[in-house]
Amino acid sequence: MLHKDSGDHPDRPSGSKVVVEAELTFEAYRLGIDDIDQQHRTLFDYVERLNTAIAGGDRWLAAYQILAELEHWAKIHFAVEESLMSICCYPDMTRHMRQHAIFSAKVVQLKQESLTKDISGKASEFLRNWLMQHVGSDDRKYAEHFLRINESFAAERVRLRPDLPQFSPARGQHRGTV
Ligand SMILES: [Fe+2]
Ligand SMILES: [Fe+2]
Repeated sequence: MLHKDSGDHPDRPSGSKVVVEAELTFEAYRLGIDDIDQQHRTLFDYVERLNTAIAGGDRWLAAYQILAELEHWAKIHFAVEESLMSICCYPDMTRHMRQHAIFSAKVVQLKQESLTKDISGKASEFLRNWLMQHVGSDDRKYAEHFLRINESFAAERVRLRPDLPQFSPARGQHRGTV
C-alpha cells in the first residue's frame, strides 16, 4: 500500500565514498511517497553498484548483470508509477510514460552493447543523469499532484463523514474508553 513518507529509513551500508554520495543523492531526491522513494533508492543503488564495479576493475562482467537487473526493476517501478498516475488522473501521464519507454529501450541497448565492449562508464553516466533529471523533475511533478489529490480526498472524507475514525495515534490510545 502506498503511503506518505514516514521519514524512517533502514540503515544503509557505509564505509565508501561512493555509498556516501549515493546516500546524499537519495535524500536530495526524496518525493514524499515512501514506497516510490524506496524504489528510487533501489534504482540509485544500481548506479552505485556499477560505479563500485568500475572502481574495482570488474566493469565488463558487472555491467551486463547490473543492466539486466535494472531493466527488470525499472519495469516494476514504472508500472507502479503509471498505476499511481492513472489513479490520480495525472494530466501529463502520456508524456511521462513515453519517457519511461525511451529509458527502458536505452537500457536494453546498453545491455546488448555490453556483450561486445566496455560501456560501463557510458552506462553509469547515462543512468545517473537520467535518474537525476527524471526523478528530480518529472517524478516530482506527478508526486506533488498525487499528494495534492490525496490531501483533498482526505479533507472531503472528513467533511462528509466526520463520525468516522481519523486514524490518529491519539485516538488509538483512547480505543476502548467510553
Ligand atoms: Fe520514478
Ligand atoms: Fe517516472
